[in-house]
Amino acid sequence: MAREVAKSENHTSPKPSPSPSPLRFSKFFQSNMRILVTGGAGFIGSHLVDKLMENEKNEVIVADNYFTGSKDNLKKWIGHPRFELIRHDVTEPLLVEVDQIYHLACPASPIFYKYNPVKTIKTNVIGTLNMLGLAKRVGARILLTSTSEVYGDPLVHPQDESYWGNVNPIGVRSCYDEGKRVAETLMFDYHRQHGIEIRVARIFNTYGPRMNIDDGRVVSNFIAQAIRDEPLTVQAPGTQTRSFCYVSDMVDGLIRLMDGDHTGPINIGNPGHDAAPFQ
Ligand SMILES: NC(=O)c1ccc[n+]([C@@H]2O[C@H](COP(=O)([O-])OP(=O)(O)OC[C@H]3O[C@@H](n4cnc5c(N)ncnc54)[C@H](O)[C@@H]3O)[C@@H](O)[C@H]2O)c1
Repeated sequence: MAREVAKSENHTSPKPSPSPSPLRFSKFFQSNMRILVTGGAGFIGSHLVDKLMENEKNEVIVADNYFTGSKDNLKKWIGHPRFELIRHDVTEPLLVEVDQIYHLACPASPIFYKYNPVKTIKTNVIGTLNMLGLAKRVGARILLTSTSEVYGDPLVHPQDESYWGNVNPIGVRSCYDEGKRVAETLMFDYHRQHGIEIRVARIFNTYGPRMNIDDGRVVSNFIAQAIRDEPLTVQAPGTQTRSFCYVSDMVDGLIRLMDGDHTGPINIGNPGHDAAPFQ
């Protein structure tokens, strides 16, 4: 779970937040928080939707282009009166009236984000700009799912939120790593300049049901090799470490961050860094 809350004092906005929708505080509509989840048809997003939908006070709108996500992940909610699913690419503006935005839309595994790197960086930069523009217009609070990859090839172990990272700006992973760094920059600039209520989570390796078995990441590779009875690929046993977090813990962390008082950035992962003897 969350290891440390970074100091948010330096990020305090001199501007008042834009007025939120009357729904957020209205006596008559106290029962309804309208929440947008971008990338809600994906792995973490669909679990987040499940959790948000458990609360009868929430209405949930998902916007997803189905690049790596699937309607299948949300099939139990399709047709539910408090749920709406929109095929939408976040690189295009979206006009909806909401109180909170969980902005997850972005391919997360190297196989998918390197497939079309220009699209990946557009998703991170233009997509985040569009969501911040929406947050500003409707006075919504917005949470970005950033990544531990903002630390790049870290020179400090473990990384806490005060570490600025060691990132290659021109490498094949930069569309993701630098894309998320720019997305974080946009979040804090909108906060300081326009008073937008922001939350930034830096997610570490997450696993659980609905993760894509062919995404080339360590947990899915390990399971896929076991199922296919293939030899397990273990690089330099005992020398590699990773922080793994189960998806329900991740979702709890995201909701607590959204509903709490800290802007972040905050690492959400597993503080037990000695657990994973492989890459
Ligand atoms: N899974 C992890 O371990 C991990 C680690 C660090 C950060 N994250 C972040 O968490 C978020 C969710 O990751 P995930 O593992 O659920 O990935 P995922 O690929 O399963 O989900 C991403 C979702 O975003 C959608 N999407 C992609 N580009 C889009 C676009 N341009 N417009 C609209 N929708 C788009 C996809 O279709 C998919 O449904 C991402 O922002 C990712 O960077 C995940």
